Amino acid sequence: MQSEVVIRHARLADAAAISAITAEYALQGIMLERSGENIIENIRNFFVADYNGEVIGCCAIAFYNLMLAEIRSLAVFNRFKMKGIGRLLVEKAETVLREEGVKEVFVLTLNPEFFRRVGYSEIMKEYFPQKIWRDCTHCPKLMACDEIAMVKKL
Ligand SMILES: CC(C)(COP(=O)(O)OP(=O)(O)OC[C@H]1O[C@@H](n2cnc3c(N)ncnc32)[C@H](O)[C@@H]1OP(=O)(O)O)[C@@H](O)C(=O)NCCC(=O)NCCS
Repeated sequence: MQSEVVIRHARLADAAAISAITAEYALQGIMLERSGENIIENIRNFFVADYNGEVIGCCAIAFYNLMLAEIRSLAVFNRFKMKGIGRLLVEKAETVLREEGVKEVFVLTLNPEFFRRVGYSEIMKEYFPQKIWRDCTHCPKLMACDEIAMVKKL
């Protein structure tokens, strides 16, 4: 199946599919919901997994400074999980970050096993004050955050 999947930059027309994929997991409390407006605003930072014209997975990058970025909103539709799509999405995001000269990428996740498999290691959240300042202070879970911070050198 992997050979039939193309990982590409998202286009505006993909916004509804990205919203559907991420909303499914947001409802389960596995990831933060991103509004349609927020997805559209950030569409240039998204990648999608395109399987014969159907968007089955997505992820986004967020830059913090010249050296540091985050991979976020990574999700694959349930029925396409465990087929290597998540790995392809992360690898694409990392390739683009490397091209930009980014040296370190981090994630906040409830699925550390997946990220361990793709080369990330656990680290204290406090190592990324930029993230806390930008997003966490607006998050309803702030004081009870259960997400695990993980990092990879590029
Ligand atoms: C996390 C997610 C994107 C992974 O996508 P995926 O396409 O299923 O993952 P892959 O098939 O590429 O898996 C890559 C490796 O991770 C492993 N893996 C994937 N999910 C795993 C899990 N939940 N537990 C343990 N290992 C896991 C796979 O076995 C594979 O290992 P291998 O390469 O050694 O064989 C997908 O499970 C998902 O959408 N989860 C819900 C949303 C979410 O948690 N997103 C992360 C928020 S940051």
